Amino acid sequence: MGWTRKDLLTIRELEPAEILTLIDTAASLEEIAGREIKKVPALRGKTVVNLFYENSTRTRTSFEIAGKWLSADVINFAASGSSAAKGESFVDTARNIAAMSPNVVVVRHSSSGAPALLARELSCAIVNAGDGAHEHPTQALLDLLTIRNKKGHFEGLSVAIVGDIAHSRVARSNIHGMKKLGMTVTVAGPPTLIPPYAQELGCKVSYRLEDAIRDVDVIMMLRLQQERMHAGLIPSLREYSRYWGLTLDRLAAHARPDVLIMHPGPVNRGVELSPEVADGPYSVILDQVAKGVAVRMAVLLLLAGGRSGEEK
Ligand code: CP
Repeated sequence: MGWTRKDLLTIRELEPAEILTLIDTAASLEEIAGREIKKVPALRGKTVVNLFYENSTRTRTSFEIAGKWLSADVINFAASGSSAAKGESFVDTARNIAAMSPNVVVVRHSSSGAPALLARELSCAIVNAGDGAHEHPTQALLDLLTIRNKKGHFEGLSVAIVGDIAHSRVARSNIHGMKKLGMTVTVAGPPTLIPPYAQELGCKVSYRLEDAIRDVDVIMMLRLQQERMHAGLIPSLREYSRYWGLTLDRLAAHARPDVLIMHPGPVNRGVELSPEVADGPYSVILDQVAKGVAVRMAVLLLLAGGRSGEEK
């Protein structure tokens, strides 16, 4: 299927065929990472601006690498150190960036809907690199690519997403993507961290780690998003870890021997995952990171490839 959208804002709005187009394109670009000279001319003359209002290691770096491997000019904007610190609004900042004629603006913001706002305001392509607790579409795409690479298919696979579902944009994007591609999703965590939308989207809900991880193909562990918690939703980190921390003993007792352990990062070692699990044989956490570059190349290529700024 060809790509016709101007922007990539959510997984929710994508057709399954569009998700597969993104994943297949990423898979075809993965081999660039293994080349001695990691450079193709696909986006020569195009400009990508990374507009990050929240901290990031993996997403910002991989968008930068992806753009550079495709020969785009990549400019990184961090709100700290910019005129946002002098009071310039988000939309004014974005309009000023757009006046410099970028082809793609990649935006991360703590407010849900900020990328959609820019997509309405600006004529260039907008990519959502994570907006509040709403969506993180490129994270879900790289997670899906990792799963297909390891398991060979999507249909019929079962996944447990464990932890702070309520504040997780990664969970929401993955739930949409996994359900669209025929996977069964269980969300698990303390009741205070399970949002009502999970059941509305057709997820099973579990309040016990041992039950959630039994017989699933994939376990996706999530970080407690304490920066988004406005009330005491867990008694303490120690208590959370006691009930919800994934250890080798728990895996050995309850999970399948071929289970994949995923985590979007950053990992809080000793809280949601023990170091032995994070670094152990079931973990594909660094595979996820590597696939993030391929996915972001695919997104930039499909949104900016072959089209000039004027055509958008
Ligand atoms: N997974 C993820 O979004 O990581 P960063 O916050 O480091 O970009």
